[in-house]
Amino acid sequence: METIYDILKAEHDQVAELFQQALSDGSKVSFVKIRIKTDPHMMGEEKFFYPLLEKKEELRDLVSEAYKEHNEAKALISEMEDMDERDENWTAKLSELKQSIDHHVQEEESKVFERARNALSQKEAEEIAQQYIEFKRSYMNRVETGEPLA
Ligand SMILES: [Fe+2]
Ligand SMILES: [Fe+2]
Repeated sequence: METIYDILKAEHDQVAELFQQALSDGSKVSFVKIRIKTDPHMMGEEKFFYPLLEKKEELRDLVSEAYKEHNEAKALISEMEDMDERDENWTAKLSELKQSIDHHVQEEESKVFERARNALSQKEAEEIAQQYIEFKRSYMNRVETGEPLA
């Protein structure tokens, strides 16, 4: 069965592709696609994945670092949300966001997942995956119907 690592890794790869697209066309539409992918990804990690990891001594520092990196990305995303794609800083902001997310993804895949695999059972990793999938499904439904997301 699919684990949370499989799902998160696949989404990281999708986000990397969306960044390629956004950097090549420089459009706000492409940026919004990144946002629609990363918002629920970060929320899902913070709801179902990080809290379990925080209980493990050996993961506590890494997870607190991860929260900081999420907050940094969220701040950049909300800044860009208020910007126009014709703004002279648009490309620089987009690159900054990409760097910030690249770094975070790198940390997650090389350190967080690695230690989580030792700290959580296979069964737990599958259960988190199910919760995450369920959360994403209802989140995307709310996006489509225009219901509040918080
Ligand atoms: Fe992630
Ligand atoms: Fe993350």
